Amino acid sequence: MKFFLDTANLGQIAEAASWGILDGVTTNPTLVSREDEPFEVLIKKICETVPGPVSVESVATKAEDIIPEARELARLADNVVVKVPINIEGLKAIKVLAQEGIPVNTTLIFNPMQALMAAKAGARYVSPFVGRLDDIGHDGMELVDQIVTIFNNYGFETEVIVASIRHPLHVIEAALMGADIATIPFGAFEKLVQHPLTDIGMEKFLKDWEKVNR
Ligand code: E4P
Repeated sequence: MKFFLDTANLGQIAEAASWGILDGVTTNPTLVSREDEPFEVLIKKICETVPGPVSVESVATKAEDIIPEARELARLADNVVVKVPINIEGLKAIKVLAQEGIPVNTTLIFNPMQALMAAKAGARYVSPFVGRLDDIGHDGMELVDQIVTIFNNYGFETEVIVASIRHPLHVIEAALMGADIATIPFGAFEKLVQHPLTDIGMEKFLKDWEKVNR
């Protein structure tokens, strides 16, 4: 299972990269808007910091505009993946970009058919937003389960990125369902490795070590 960091913050990316288990980064216009660096400079720096794929979102709304914008984004660095929201214009763009070898992460997926359509168009990744579904009283992880099953049924190579993650339980469930990737905000990422019993156990061991005749 691959772990991506869901942020555009260079400090968070460098920190998570130093842990040795960071496989990629996803950004979106909201995350980018929180940073001060000029957009292209920021994306290039992120791409240099992360060895794996970095998703950068297209903001055009018509296929004829999404395609040239995606080509420009892909030129920023070899590891750029272009994020395209799912709709009919997005589908048309994904088809063309896939044929050109530009990897697409289809974003804002809220039902399994959107994911299947994106995969059929040639998307490299689909991003179901689990937290936003939970927020409105739906079961976000059920969507992930459905997409994983559908892709397995038909042998699609499109990878499932579990997105809009709010807490470690989302990541555990994603792993149990066989999702390829979880993209995780920094706060939840830190929690993946923490447990109060680990801290209490360490504290006791260190105290007892003081009593050892050395
Ligand atoms: C996915 O790639 C998005 O950047 C992200 O997961 C959205 O999450 P949010 O619902 O916390 O904004």
